[in-house]
Amino acid sequence: MNLQVRSPKYDREVIEVPVKASQLSTQFNGTIVSAKGDEYPVRDNIIDLLPVEKSYSMAQSTNHWKLTASVYEDLWRKRSLSLLTGEEFPIKKEQELLVKWMKPEPGKWYLDVGCSTALYARTLKKEEPDSHQVAVDFSQVMLEEARLKAEAERTDLYLIRADGRDLPFFAGSFDGLSMGGTLNELTDELKVLYECRRVLKSSGTLFMMHLVKAASWYGRLFQDSAEWGGLQFWSVDESNELFSRAGFKVEEQFTKGIVCFTKLRPS
Ligand SMILES: C[S@@+](CC[C@H](N)C(=O)[O-])C[C@H]1O[C@@H](n2cnc3c(N)ncnc32)[C@H](O)[C@@H]1O
Repeated sequence: MNLQVRSPKYDREVIEVPVKASQLSTQFNGTIVSAKGDEYPVRDNIIDLLPVEKSYSMAQSTNHWKLTASVYEDLWRKRSLSLLTGEEFPIKKEQELLVKWMKPEPGKWYLDVGCSTALYARTLKKEEPDSHQVAVDFSQVMLEEARLKAEAERTDLYLIRADGRDLPFFAGSFDGLSMGGTLNELTDELKVLYECRRVLKSSGTLFMMHLVKAASWYGRLFQDSAEWGGLQFWSVDESNELFSRAGFKVEEQFTKGIVCFTKLRPS
């Protein structure tokens, strides 16, 4: 089944995305077009639905640098949870939790929001090769890195450049959504969560990994300076209030250090 996206210009218009855009072993270039004639480029399989550049916070800007994208997963992401939880927390453990809570199924559709190198989408596709995985980020260089990693692993995904504040999908398009570490970077977190709720089926699951306020004074000091750069931190209660306002209820949740894992369902 083809991926259908919502035209960024005419929000009732469907745009069909050919399956070959997701087949990363073959380079695909071209355009996709709505019935009204608005066209969007596909370059090297990356579908660009964000023709107009947005403004970015300092923390977000670093994700648009080629150097950040090239070292992000191998130097930071693989070690980050051990550093942030204060215990040995290999990436495999996080991937196992993702799979356990998301339970990807054949023929179902999953979206990784603010995907960077699409770690979550790649993990779910490897777990269930007959599921359909879509990964969205507004950073072109992160999507290029996601493409390289997915192709190297022979994992097919749809890679879309789009803004989480205005997801280019119709209501109820996805069976599952995941967001790893992105919540803290968002400039309009409630809008993005509303969008997540809109595109998720009422039977769906949202896997959320985010950072909460540190308990120690030195942790808070560090987070205060990170807030200058555009990151945000909430307590667990404040985070849950945010999820609830966006139409989600917490089904499972635990924190380790400042890392919070939450399984959310539409309320
Ligand atoms: C902390 S990284 C996420 C990492 C990834 N989810 C993972 O688990 O490794 C945050 C990513 O979200 C993206 N991002 C931030 N705000 C966004 C927005 N409004 N729309 C789309 N992507 C966004 C950034 O470009 C960056 O790649």
